[in-house]
Amino acid sequence: MEQYIIRGGNPLVGEVEISGAKNAALGILAAAIMTDDTVLIENLPDVRDINVLLEAMESIGVRVERITKHAVMMNSEHIGEVSVDYEYIKKIRASYYLIGALLGKYKKAEVPLPGGCNIGSRPIDLHIKGFKALGAEVKIRNGFIIAQADHLHGSHIFLDTVSVGATINIMMAASMAEGYTIIENCAREPHVVDVANFLNSMGANIKGAGTDVIRIRGVQKLHKTEYSIIPDQIEAGTFMFAAAATKGDVMVKNVIPKHLEATTAKLLEIGCEVEEFDNAVRVVASKRLRSTNVKTLPYPGYPTDMQPQIGVTLALARGTSIVTESIFENRFKYMDELTRMGAVVRVEGNTAIISGVEKLSGARVSAPDLRAGAALVIAALAAEGVTTIDDIIYIQRGYEDFEEKLRSLGAEIERVNSEKEAQKFRLRIG
Ligand code: EPZ
Repeated sequence: MEQYIIRGGNPLVGEVEISGAKNAALGILAAAIMTDDTVLIENLPDVRDINVLLEAMESIGVRVERITKHAVMMNSEHIGEVSVDYEYIKKIRASYYLIGALLGKYKKAEVPLPGGCNIGSRPIDLHIKGFKALGAEVKIRNGFIIAQADHLHGSHIFLDTVSVGATINIMMAASMAEGYTIIENCAREPHVVDVANFLNSMGANIKGAGTDVIRIRGVQKLHKTEYSIIPDQIEAGTFMFAAAATKGDVMVKNVIPKHLEATTAKLLEIGCEVEEFDNAVRVVASKRLRSTNVKTLPYPGYPTDMQPQIGVTLALARGTSIVTESIFENRFKYMDELTRMGAVVRVEGNTAIISGVEKLSGARVSAPDLRAGAALVIAALAAEGVTTIDDIIYIQRGYEDFEEKLRSLGAEIERVNSEKEAQKFRLRIG
């Protein structure tokens, strides 16, 4: 089992290039099957979740040709199956986007119901509500969601909770429904906008993505396109907090600064300098940071996917901080690990009260999920001594070349696969 071994204490300094957005890419790849034409997708991140979704798509007959590390050509003319295997859903929940895409194109989809996951129960009732409103019959049988319709028709849908997944899934199906659909109380995340732009580039007629009302005029057919995915604002934000926590100076390149506003605002509040350029942000932290309070909210609020990164940074700030998680019920598991490194934290329900300490110290910890895993890497980089992080498979789901990018900024981090490799690295760093 692979681990990270990290010797902390070095401020991160230099420049880092951000990859394409994983969560936009998951929606876009699924949407790409909605045309029989060949589609070129660029700026695709080379991460595990994306590669698993591509495999799931190949398993139902999509032809996928990797042009480069970051570009694929896809052709979905010969999809022979509208039923996706459980093995893939088990690995990535986002394969549920194939329901909206298959239902829109073929009026039929069979996809295993995703289970709960490490960050919470994650129901998909709103997705189902939307498909039903579009005229689909949706049944759950033998663990599968089976959605089918003679034809899909436009509808007026109100989402009870702001949901990224439901907004994208319903938007995909409605793009090929007959007539006009209005979705209210939509998620406004940049990746929702990116999926809408992608569908529009294939001939869909979607307006209002990025606001809380999306209007869709259904079309009969979608056509070929070439599309480049937006940069990953969560990967960017992770490096911004890594710069802050290690008292570093990092230029985070290939980003859309507007997408990072909530993160930038918090970094300024805790005492970092943040300089914005057209497609880069520079974060400098020259002194001990101060505490703050933060509550996760749908975009443009502070993202839940950036909650652990600010949590570990505040563990080292002067004063007491309160972090409130309002999106997922189980996103504080990393706090137990952080406590092993010397943090002083009390978790009460969906709130963590963090009393900042001057130093964290290296320990053996384990990544509970993707973002919490990345946050523990930040904690380890800022800590004194050596930290070993287990279960880094979670981190590999969403961060491309994570250790290489960190090393280029001066981090001492090694991915090891055996005790022998770990020993070798420990000897080298002394
Ligand atoms: C997306 O998950 C992201 N995943 C998550 O990224 C992210 O944490 C989340 O949005 C919130 O921003 C992808 O884009 C693939 P939601 P999603 O539906 O779509 C409730 C990461 O680390 N809800 O916006 O599954 C739900 O329980 C991750 O990259 C319902 O009640 O999240 C939650 O409280 C993990 N019923 C809230 O809505 C539903 O049918 C928001 O969830 C759907 C959701």
